[in-house]
Amino acid sequence: MKKVGLLTSGGDCQALNATMRGIAKTLYNLYGDEVEIIGFEEGYRGLIYDDYRVMKKEDFSGILTVGGTMLGTSRTPFKLIREPDENGLNKVAAMIHTYKKLKLDCLFVLGGNGSLKTANLLSEEGLNVIGLPKTIDNDLWGTDVTFGFQSAVSIATSAIDSIHTTAASHGRVFIVEVMGHKVGWLTLYAGIAGGADIILLPEIPYDLDKICDALKERGKAGKHFSIIAVAEGAISKEDAALTKKELKKKREKGEKYPSVAYELAAKIGEKTGQEVRVTVPGHMQRGGAPIPYDRVLSTRLGAEAARLFDKKKFGLMVAAKNNEITSIPLKETAGKLKTVDPKSEIVRAAKLTGISFGD
Ligand code: F6P
Repeated sequence: MKKVGLLTSGGDCQALNATMRGIAKTLYNLYGDEVEIIGFEEGYRGLIYDDYRVMKKEDFSGILTVGGTMLGTSRTPFKLIREPDENGLNKVAAMIHTYKKLKLDCLFVLGGNGSLKTANLLSEEGLNVIGLPKTIDNDLWGTDVTFGFQSAVSIATSAIDSIHTTAASHGRVFIVEVMGHKVGWLTLYAGIAGGADIILLPEIPYDLDKICDALKERGKAGKHFSIIAVAEGAISKEDAALTKKELKKKREKGEKYPSVAYELAAKIGEKTGQEVRVTVPGHMQRGGAPIPYDRVLSTRLGAEAARLFDKKKFGLMVAAKNNEITSIPLKETAGKLKTVDPKSEIVRAAKLTGISFGD
């Protein structure tokens, strides 16, 4: 009899259920009734506090198209994982204890950067762990794409599409703020797909004057409206030159804005005299059903994770590379971010077609 654990950790995304289904269906096909799947509630919280349920075969049916995660999720920050909880509990020891008590043969972790760092830690502590790359941010190093990303691109693109018609009717500047604090993949893809005129990413600090120049140029060319796609973590050149401490101080002292889009709107309005409006799709970008691309990707990643388990290969993250599904050691991906290279072909193509990055 095989016994495996399953958990979904960190911010949710559209194809978590589809990925768990991929793992489970493959395991049931390989082992029939000779496999038991334990689902931990709300990510690592369930593993730490021994909160789980024994899954049934039927739990994995009818969920291919369902967004969110049937197990629930939570954020368990990696930087606090070695810190005792409020009752003095050693979280790492507790996770190892639960795994051993349940006599698990493997733990499948569906997670993003922080969650896979914890997965790697558990693997280094001797547990059999296999990671699966989840996040709408697409910022996991070692995989070309993460599940959830393209579904979020689709939602952020529809937001920009909808803004297009109203922006055109009113001749306004619209700023659409897209998720992504540290990386700009989602903004880059949705910005290009939605025909944004200006795209602002954390990886390419912007110059406010350049943004205003680009808006003026559009006006001169007879375009009466403009759309700016800005990543949550976009930053000005001035601010990017500051140390973390200096930036914190500046933000504490300066005028407070709900987010970067509102700050830009105020500054652009002031500098250009144009009417500027802000749209923030926010968590909508993580919600709803996975698009077919993600359903296929998740099925492939899930099947590969189960296949690796069958081959007794652990300490790995399944990954998509050059349209093939493969795997890389967790220790190679843990802690590394995949950022947008400002010199990459995709940024060049965007610039060649006239998109400004405000740089
Ligand atoms: O999961 C990734 C992400 O959606 C980021 O794009 C976003 O910045 C963040 O999570 C939002 O986190 P929370 O759901 O905790 O508000």
